[in-house]
Amino acid sequence: MKVIYPGSFDPVTYGHLDIIKRCSEKFDDVIIGVLNNVSKKGLFTVEERMNLLKETTSQFKNVEISSFSGLLADFAKDKKCSTMIRGLRAVSDYEYEMQMALVNKKLDPEIETLFMVSRSEYVYLSSSIVKEIALHNGNISSFVPEIVEKEMKNKIRGDF
Ligand code: PNS
Repeated sequence: MKVIYPGSFDPVTYGHLDIIKRCSEKFDDVIIGVLNNVSKKGLFTVEERMNLLKETTSQFKNVEISSFSGLLADFAKDKKCSTMIRGLRAVSDYEYEMQMALVNKKLDPEIETLFMVSRSEYVYLSSSIVKEIALHNGNISSFVPEIVEKEMKNKIRGDF
């Protein structure tokens, strides 16, 4: 089975990487869909996010990194893949995830959204939290791989 794991990945964290690893073990092919959201400026450009994902998932041979703009349902059609994976952390994720899954099903009844429960050590982890800690010079080494940490520091220092 082929699945899509969509998200913003601004930037990829150990929480995302755990879901990607588990997907790569359970499914034949995994497409990571990085949203190119023109109305929301992220810390990293879509190309930078994709590069960080490529670097940090290179050991998983059945994982492909792709980007999309517009609707996830249209991306799914383009990729001929109707199974979406979303990570669920706390109960607070549930309402938004439920809404998204139902909207996607309304847009395309073929779409199924499967939820993978985050490992307990990552339930508190999000890209936004990591960005906030990094902005205040906090230690993010247990939240993101070294390469992501390095690129975040460069960004925040304004080197790029
Ligand atoms: O990592 P995120 O930010 O929680 O991922 C959210 C994402 C990218 C999966 C979601 O915002 C999305 O699919 N956006 C594309 C627009 C779309 O299809 N919207 C309708 C479903 S809510």
